[in-house]
Amino acid sequence: MSINDEILKRRTFAIISHPDAGKTTLTEKFLLFAGAIQSAGAVKSNKIKKSTVSDFMEIERQRGISVASAVMSFEYRGLNINLLDTPGHKDFAEDTYRTLTAVDSVILVVDSVKGVEEQTEKLMKVCRMRKTPVIIFINKLDREGACPFDLVDELEKKLDIKVQPLSWPISRGSSFKGVYSFHQNNLHIFHPNRGADDDEIVAITDISRHALDEHVGGEFAAQLREDVELLKGVYGSFDNEKYLAGDLAPAFFGSALNNFGVKETLDAFIEMAPPPGAREAATRRVEPGEKSFSGFVFKIHANLDLRHRDRIAFFRVCSGKFERNAFYKHVRLNTNLRFTNPASFLGQKKDVIEEAYPGDVIGLYDRGHFKIGDTLTDGENLSFQGIPSFSPEVFRELINTSMKAKQLEKGIKQLTDEGVAQVFHLAIGHRKVVGTVGQLQFDVISYRLEHEYGAKCSFEPLNFYKACWITSNNAAQFKDFCDYKANHIGRDKDDNIVFFAESEWMLHHYMEQFPDVNFHFTSEFK
Ligand code: G4P
Repeated sequence: MSINDEILKRRTFAIISHPDAGKTTLTEKFLLFAGAIQSAGAVKSNKIKKSTVSDFMEIERQRGISVASAVMSFEYRGLNINLLDTPGHKDFAEDTYRTLTAVDSVILVVDSVKGVEEQTEKLMKVCRMRKTPVIIFINKLDREGACPFDLVDELEKKLDIKVQPLSWPISRGSSFKGVYSFHQNNLHIFHPNRGADDDEIVAITDISRHALDEHVGGEFAAQLREDVELLKGVYGSFDNEKYLAGDLAPAFFGSALNNFGVKETLDAFIEMAPPPGAREAATRRVEPGEKSFSGFVFKIHANLDLRHRDRIAFFRVCSGKFERNAFYKHVRLNTNLRFTNPASFLGQKKDVIEEAYPGDVIGLYDRGHFKIGDTLTDGENLSFQGIPSFSPEVFRELINTSMKAKQLEKGIKQLTDEGVAQVFHLAIGHRKVVGTVGQLQFDVISYRLEHEYGAKCSFEPLNFYKACWITSNNAAQFKDFCDYKANHIGRDKDDNIVFFAESEWMLHHYMEQFPDVNFHFTSEFK
């Protein structure tokens, strides 16, 4: 098979949601359809229900044993699908943001009862920034949720994207009757607690016919006709190009728990979602079909079993063909590396692979060579764009409380390479600032520093609201600003200058006061 045929066969995506919207349930149903798992309950939720560090460490330990949960590869209707798992807990959102850099599209799950939640908005911001095509699955229609028109309106407003429903619910909650698919011109009748194979699907070419009333009852049939009339007036035919450009999100209604509307969503995904596409590197655009091999590391998973200190770097192939035992250039270190046991994750099993193609995610055993964003190539000095650091949301000063400064230094460096946290250095006093997206990560860092590196530390609260990467063409004004805010200026891991704003109000105030200073909210601003 040619490399282009291999590329066309692949779909690499992530399911994202606010915790509890139904991501794990939907993932599991997808895997059941594809025959990748045989029974429900096989997909472990990576949720941390009690939000305690011990919960987290336990989950991580299990994941360390079965890293397969980070990528699930399966075959469906002749395609090789790579489904990338994302952490459920909001304190680990940064990990999800990075996973989004490695996918070609996304399915967003929204709870119809709760509507758009905080985490949904943040994740969608990253998708919009990257122009990632998004399919929306509106879940839990078996519960008394919001009016679907209001939901679609809320999605459009809060997620700042055009939404086009391709299916439409007939009532909801206890009187939920099913969905009408514009997409397939049929009616899916809902029977609670029935398996997907039993889904009753009725072909409906004309919803004005009495057949609809027989299936859903006169009152609901009338309501559907009215809704469909309205929707047809608002939406024209679905434009897949707009979806591919990240400008239009098709939406489907269903209930993951009841396996309802799930297959339709998966089938729509197969039809619409893009195969692996071109990627921007600092010097040029890299096409997947190029002969020369390239790819990048987007996630590093530490092995928390102290007897095996190796880590697994999750690597997305971007172009060409990856081959086991071939030498590839590690661009940042300017050295050649060879991988004897690259792993794939087909059907939840970790297997050694001989080759991999664009869109594939492989696991590379790592003894400390990799950082997030690192590139491997055939020899070219490529550096992929679009793997930025985002501003952390919680900041603390790292204080060494044991004599083991070296271990602490080593531990914190490795944890930053893995992307557990970001570390900055304040210009004055050279104090270390650790930034995360949630409190739980500080507990995890202390725990891991102590247990893996034998170093103790504590964290002092800092009154910072956001880290902004700053630049300017006006050297005098830039210097004035840096002098004025000297206590709030530092550097990131790549030595870029960062300003720590104390509040949103103050930040806006400085933006007005120093108009030639540019404040960037991700590390990738060039
Ligand atoms: P997440 O990965 O997005 O965090 O969500 P997850 O799938 O774990 O689902 C969160 C809760 O919502 C689970 O209940 C799950 O059973 C339920 N759920 C998922 N889809 C539907 C649906 O279509 N309808 C209804 N009514 N519930 C749904 P839980 O009680 O938190 O967990 P469990 O004890 O059932 O596993």
